[in-house]
Amino acid sequence: MSVASLAIHGQMLADSYRNARLRQAIELSVRPGDIVADVGAGSGLLAMFAVRAGAAKVYAIEATSLAGLAQALVRDNGMDDQIVVIPGLSQETVLPERCDVVISETLGFLGLDEGFQSIMADARDRFLKPGGILLPRAVELWAAAVEQPPQCARLVATGEIEGLNLRRATNVFSRVPLRAYVESSRHISAREQLFRLDCAIMQPGGELPFSVRLASTRSADLAGFCVWFKAELFHGVELSSESPAYSNHWAQAYLPASDPKQLAEGDVAHLTGRMSSDRRGSRIEWSCDYLAHTEPAVAL
Ligand SMILES: C[S@@+](CC[C@H](N)C(=O)[O-])C[C@H]1O[C@@H](n2cnc3c(N)ncnc32)[C@H](O)[C@@H]1O
Repeated sequence: MSVASLAIHGQMLADSYRNARLRQAIELSVRPGDIVADVGAGSGLLAMFAVRAGAAKVYAIEATSLAGLAQALVRDNGMDDQIVVIPGLSQETVLPERCDVVISETLGFLGLDEGFQSIMADARDRFLKPGGILLPRAVELWAAAVEQPPQCARLVATGEIEGLNLRRATNVFSRVPLRAYVESSRHISAREQLFRLDCAIMQPGGELPFSVRLASTRSADLAGFCVWFKAELFHGVELSSESPAYSNHWAQAYLPASDPKQLAEGDVAHLTGRMSSDRRGSRIEWSCDYLAHTEPAVAL
């Protein structure tokens, strides 16, 4: 496992909002005696939450060398009798029995970009008992139009760094989502849902198209779009990456507008695109056109 991936993992484990929401959802969904699968278990934190909630057995499947750490942590916490750590890819894992609850926190900053759809759909079909619980139940992607590009988008916004002409590079970087913390004070539209993926019926991959009209709430220079996910972990328990606090280890995704524009109040940015997912992960493509606000005609 790379140092960079390990560092992200460390930040994720320190994300107390994330941990608290997942613990709460696990406490509500796991009943005493349940059999549970934690798919993409990392260091085994959620598997241990499940044991604390009363699970009789947890299969903790982890693809990377973190499986060794998970095994050691499970031992340190005296849970070896209940948790079976299985190193390897979940899609290549065969479990000896079906589970009452399947948990998978394999969510990236765009929700689906770490392979969640393929991992969870496969786990649902092969690991879950009929009528069992999926955690999360659904994943949504949300967006708002924003003014002022965040610092990380400076290249895309100006085409210049340290006095050098890097304009050609903007063609490349304006098509990738950038990781950014975007204050809600920079939103210039209401929040709109791009799509909702219901884990009980989703396919393991495919295209999720979106098309939303983001009306400007004030006169402002639109620079791009801030995008975040919301996961419905259990009825009434939500995990969202909207917060711009640095403790939110996901941050948000910033999608630069190809044609930044000055908008008057009521003008509409029409954001369209699609997110495509397969076993290797996800891609997001987007474009935007603008509609000027027109006052409704008044009959004289
Ligand atoms: C976002 S981390 C979350 C770890 C842990 N579930 C937690 O919440 O603390 C996702 C983990 O899933 C693992 N993973 C991703 N795809 C996997 C797959 N197909 N099979 C097993 N593990 C996978 C990654 O290596 C990573 O450790």
